Amino acid sequence: MKKVLVVYWSSTGNTETMAKQVAKGAEDAGAEVTIKTVSEASSDLVKEAAAVAFGCPAMGAEVLEESEMEPFITGLSQAELGGKPTGLFGSYDWGDGQWMRDWVERMKGLGAVLDGEGLITQLVPSAEVLEQCHELGKRLAG
Ligand SMILES: Cc1cc2nc3c(=O)[nH]c(=O)nc-3n(C[C@H](O)[C@H](O)[C@H](O)COP(=O)(O)O)c2cc1C
Repeated sequence: MKKVLVVYWSSTGNTETMAKQVAKGAEDAGAEVTIKTVSEASSDLVKEAAAVAFGCPAMGAEVLEESEMEPFITGLSQAELGGKPTGLFGSYDWGDGQWMRDWVERMKGLGAVLDGEGLITQLVPSAEVLEQCHELGKRLAG
């Protein structure tokens, strides 16, 4: 069974709701899914997974959350991500998605094989966005 890992950070629950749907999509497609908050995750878990999804809202000024997610991503390298199917997702509010564009480029630079351009939504994910999260999970499991 394919191992899919979902790692997220969320303060008010919007990105968490997305993460749970990504995980459910992968599960529904038959994957062995592990879902962790970033504080519970490790780079070894990333390495062991066949596909990964990371979720983080836009924080600071168009950056990743700085105390947990940013150091976690900084700690990853080609060793964990090289050639690995990877999905990114997250919620934002007043920006235009710059944090996600930057994150996508950064992950490509680490050798990750990105699924699309990152799945973003303003504040609370709609039913349509949750369906897209589910589809992302299914693709990562496939
Ligand atoms: C400290 C802080 C910084 C934020 N910075 C941005 C930002 O730069 N751009 C943006 O679009 N939204 C920004 N937001 C809004 C969050 O991305 C938005 O509320 C998001 O839905 C939070 O997701 P969560 O519920 O998963 O925590 C910020 C929110 C907070 C609390």
